[in-house]
Order: sequence, then C-alpha cells, then structure tokens
Amino acid sequence: MENKFAVLPRHIAIIMDGNGRWAKQRGLKRYEGHKVGAEVFRTITQYCIDIGIKHVTFYAFSTENWKRSKVEVAAIMTLLRQYLEEMRIRFAENEELGCRIRFIGSRAGMPKDIVKLMDTVEKRSADKDKVFINIAVNYGGRAEITESVKEIARGIKRGDIDIDDIDEEMIGARLYTAGQPDPDLIIRPSGEYRLSNFLLWQSAYSEFYIDDVLWPDYTPQDLDRAIEAYGKRDRRFGNAQ
Ligand code: IPE
Ligand code: IPE
Ligand code: MG
Repeated sequence: MENKFAVLPRHIAIIMDGNGRWAKQRGLKRYEGHKVGAEVFRTITQYCIDIGIKHVTFYAFSTENWKRSKVEVAAIMTLLRQYLEEMRIRFAENEELGCRIRFIGSRAGMPKDIVKLMDTVEKRSADKDKVFINIAVNYGGRAEITESVKEIARGIKRGDIDIDDIDEEMIGARLYTAGQPDPDLIIRPSGEYRLSNFLLWQSAYSEFYIDDVLWPDYTPQDLDRAIEAYGKRDRRFGNAQ
C-alpha cells in the first residue's frame, strides 16, 4: 500500500472542520457532528499510518473555540476525554505501531483530568519514532508564537540570550512543534479558505488543499485526492523555475 502515490508528503496537517454544518443538514445537534467527526479522526489517523505518512497534525480545538456555547464545548471535551481514555487502554496497540502522540496547544484553561490524560498518553509514547501524531487542542498560532517570544525575552533578561542571536531557528525551537518538520500539505475540508489561526509560523511554504466535503463525511479516498493533487504541485520555496 505504501507506494500508491508518486509523491508522499512527509507531514500532513488537517483542519477538521464542518461538524456543525453536517449535523445541521441532518437536523441533528452539533454534538452529533462532533461525535461522528471524532470517529473519522480515528479512521483517518489509521489510514495515514497505513499509507506511510510520517507526521500528521490534526486541528481539534482552537483557542477561539471557547467562544462556543458551554454545552458544545463540554461535548467536545467529553469526546476528547473518551479518546484519551481509549489511547490509555489501547497502549499496547499503539506501542506496536511505534506511534508518538503529542498534544500541541496551551494546557492552561483545560480541564485538569484531560491535562493529566494528555500527559500520560504523551509520556507513554515519548520513545516511539515511527509515526508522529500531533493533536492541536486549545491551540492558537498567535498564542504559540507569543509564548516563544516571551521565552526568548526571559532568556535575554537572564543574560542567556543576546538580542543579535535571535533568528528564525530560535523562534521555531520554542514552538510546540519544535524539532518537527513543517507541514507539506494542509487540508481543510468544508470549503473554507482560511487558516483560522492554525500553524501560522509553520505553514510559510505549505501547500493548501481545500475540500468541499464536510469532516464527518471525510474518507480515505478524499485524502487520496488531496495527496494526488499535492503530487502535482510545483513547490518553489522562492526559487526561480
Ligand atoms: C469543527 O467543526 C470542529 C471544531 C471546531 C471543534 P465545526 O463545529 O467548526 O463545524 P462548522 O464549521 O460549524 O460546520
Ligand atoms: C477551526 O475551525 C478550528 C478547528 C477545526 C478545530 P473553526 O470552525 O473554529 O474556524 P472558523 O471559525 O470557521 O474560522
Ligand atoms: Mg467550523
């Protein structure tokens, strides 16, 4: 299965969007959309592993998503909790896959039990290096860059960092994604042409693929289409043809 594509992105990032619209179309509560979306997340994670994608990042909850109703936020947190419990129980399976799971985003403001579960799942998979999965929870690109800048400022204050030594590498090394390659391909289902505060720094040269399919309807075939389109892109990184 691994050689199905001419070019395989090293890192795919997916904005899991469209759950609410999917539910609305069916006369269901938004929660039902998130529930199906969470299942699709599991399916697509497995598929990415099957086809040999080394790094996958999913956008699950943004720093702006707290603006939603209490009921909706609580429903999303419950689904996250269920997933984390499952990851803890299915530890052996994950171990076999060599899958390292990391949560990118701010832990501040997150329910304490979820933070604890996140730490457990991260710690238990910390020595795995076959596949890298990032799940962005309470994630905001601006907040991430702000934190990096603050960290550098603290270093300057301590006298450990010289202002003239600040460079892109130094900023990147203090982001949640430190040490990981930038996303080659960013996929957004549900037809919106925006990043919504996702991986602002890391997406400098990412290829974008917008799909009209809503996330709960998203299938491995949809991902195939995005990867095939990616294979036809001409990535220049500022070079001349
Ligand atoms: C994405 O689906 C899930 C989260 C943002 C948590 P939405 O809930 O944003 O779905 P739409 O955009 O309203 O359809
Ligand atoms: C981005 O989707 C966040 C996630 C998918 C987790 P939103 O639905 O929150 O983005 P906007 O509000 O449409 O820009
Ligand atoms: Mg949305």
